[in-house]
Amino acid sequence: MTDPALDFICNALSESSGQRLLVADEHLDSSLLLSLKTLPDLSLLTNRYDVYRSAQDNNIPCIFNDMDISACNTRFDVIAYRVSKEKAVVHHIINQAPASLNAKGSLLLCGFKNEGIKTYISKVEQYLGCKALVSKGERQLKLAQFRVTELGEPLDDREYRQLTCIGEQRNLALFSKPGQYGWNKIDKGSELLVNAFADHVNIAGAPATLLDLGCGYGYLSVMAWALGAGQIMATDNNAAAIASCRHNFEIHGIQGELSADDCACDLHHQYDVVLCNPPFHKGFDTEPGLTEKFLRSARHHLKNNGVAFVVVNQFIPVEAIAPSYFKSVETVYRDKSFKVFKLSS
Ligand SMILES: C[S@@+](CC[C@H](N)C(=O)[O-])C[C@H]1O[C@@H](n2cnc3c(N)ncnc32)[C@H](O)[C@@H]1O
Repeated sequence: MTDPALDFICNALSESSGQRLLVADEHLDSSLLLSLKTLPDLSLLTNRYDVYRSAQDNNIPCIFNDMDISACNTRFDVIAYRVSKEKAVVHHIINQAPASLNAKGSLLLCGFKNEGIKTYISKVEQYLGCKALVSKGERQLKLAQFRVTELGEPLDDREYRQLTCIGEQRNLALFSKPGQYGWNKIDKGSELLVNAFADHVNIAGAPATLLDLGCGYGYLSVMAWALGAGQIMATDNNAAAIASCRHNFEIHGIQGELSADDCACDLHHQYDVVLCNPPFHKGFDTEPGLTEKFLRSARHHLKNNGVAFVVVNQFIPVEAIAPSYFKSVETVYRDKSFKVFKLSS
């Protein structure tokens, strides 16, 4: 279903003219992309690989990176952005607008009240030294238009471009950066998944090949490498995740490959082990279809005698979905928050 906030901002974009940039995250779906196809002088910047691929399929010029507008090498008449879930990304994009807009260019910002749009609007008014032109939509949706008048202090983007050490495990430092959900912590569920994998290694030995499906900054890959896994392939849809995972591979000398991909759909190899802590949110909302998409991909990328370890929150019905893809579905750990499954065909 198309996101109403994105729909609202795209309508405004279609009524504007000149060189236009739509900054898009996972809120952008293919039906909306189809309607953007007809807009002349429109470019897209996205940090999501699936959005990038859909834009390419629709012949819309698109750059995939970690939300670096300067890579577009153009000054725009309009930059349109439907706010993302993570505040640091929103601030990072807003901070770049003045350098990427023409003298009379405008920034369009859209979002719902419960997403903090009111606060963003007042922060941008201060930063750009102007009064916003605000239009209202359904369910307390707001669309604001700004023109740079007198530049003030940039917004706090938590040093968006910087990779930071966020902790250490098994004597290995873990680096991460803003731009990915939960970027500055070790996920509790992922820790439980590593424990289950470590038990498996104790019995069956370390796998020669391993796929980290939805790798984030690479926590599972780094731990799997510490436990003796051989060739590691890590893949994620998000550019910030790929950048931080690459850094962790480099500093630890991990023999691994990295690929930006939508649920490993361009990957045609099978692995001895698949590790996965699948997402269940898309933007601000939960997306039930994601669990099945990741389980299907885990099965597809598993060798016949391979094993997949998957961790999910208690309320995700893996028991109901997994039997369509795996002959053996074993719950190897469960507490009041998480479930860890060992899946094999
Ligand atoms: C719960 S996080 C797990 C991250 C990491 N594996 C860990 O354990 O810390 C889920 C990951 O899936 C990624 N993701 C979401 N949609 C994806 C897709 N369609 N294809 C690949 N990865 C995706 C997210 O970017 C995020 O890094």
